[in-house]
Amino acid sequence: MKTYHKSVLLKETLVALHIQKGAWYLDCTLGDGGHSLEILKQGSKLVGIDVDPQALERASQRFEQEGIPAKQYQLIEGNFRDLTNLIAQTGIDQKFLGVIFDLGVSSLQLETPERGFSFLREGPLDMRMDPKLSVTALDLIRGLNKGELNELFTKLGEEKFARKLAAAVVSARPVIKTTGDLARVIEKEVGRSGKIHPATKIFQALRIAVNDELNALKEGLEASLKVVEKDGLVLVISFHSLEDRAVKNIFRHWQNMGLGESSFKKPLLPSEREINQNPRARSAKLRVFQKLVS
Ligand SMILES: C[S@@+](CC[C@H](N)C(=O)[O-])C[C@H]1O[C@@H](n2cnc3c(N)ncnc32)[C@H](O)[C@@H]1O
Repeated sequence: MKTYHKSVLLKETLVALHIQKGAWYLDCTLGDGGHSLEILKQGSKLVGIDVDPQALERASQRFEQEGIPAKQYQLIEGNFRDLTNLIAQTGIDQKFLGVIFDLGVSSLQLETPERGFSFLREGPLDMRMDPKLSVTALDLIRGLNKGELNELFTKLGEEKFARKLAAAVVSARPVIKTTGDLARVIEKEVGRSGKIHPATKIFQALRIAVNDELNALKEGLEASLKVVEKDGLVLVISFHSLEDRAVKNIFRHWQNMGLGESSFKKPLLPSEREINQNPRARSAKLRVFQKLVS
């Protein structure tokens, strides 16, 4: 039996979506298919997208094992920033009642050392969600100068020791090859205090840059509103303040344009119970926008 990614805010997502049997849903971040599976179990139809081919393989095996009829879903490999083209490929000329973005990486990606996402697992500094991308985290470490690294760590990591760490990384550059090498350089420079590993924000910054995550999110969200039905919902689960800020601003902009409204004033957060069972959920925030025009 495989261990799957523990879906974050699953119950809240299902309640917020008001799933309707037979209606179409779109999961832009399929992962292990945890959210999608529950939607499919309610007799809905679904398109699932992921940029990581391994995710599609695992999710389709999981759906099959769960006895979900293949005619209920279509899975597509691609980046949600290309949503319009990806949906055109499906041949479905139907809008969706709900679209989900559950951002970031899956447990499988995080825990596979060769993918290089985690400072807790020794592996190459890769961090590409899409294995076809050409630039890895190591390329950024090797190719950016001190000023550029400082800017990257500041803007995408909101790291208070950005300047100091950029200098340390540049000095240690010839010996940095792996996730562990980078984590050790950071820890040596700024020490360790509290529960959060000192490399957390630097790894976040590199991952966002390698995958161009914030631009992909903005493009994906803009495209999603076009494929949602009137009264349909766009739901986003974010995991850090940069993502959440981007989502909040886009939803506010849509509301100001008269396209619909946010379903809740404040984002929904995971319960303490969920956080205890799944520490990865601790920084999750769920926002929902309802489109009110056709
Ligand atoms: C947190 S996981 C989703 C987990 C899933 N909801 C579940 O319950 O199993 C996020 C997934 O989104 C994918 N992803 C992230 N950014 C993407 C993008 N721009 N386009 C397509 N897939 C993306 C990742 O490869 C990863 O598999």
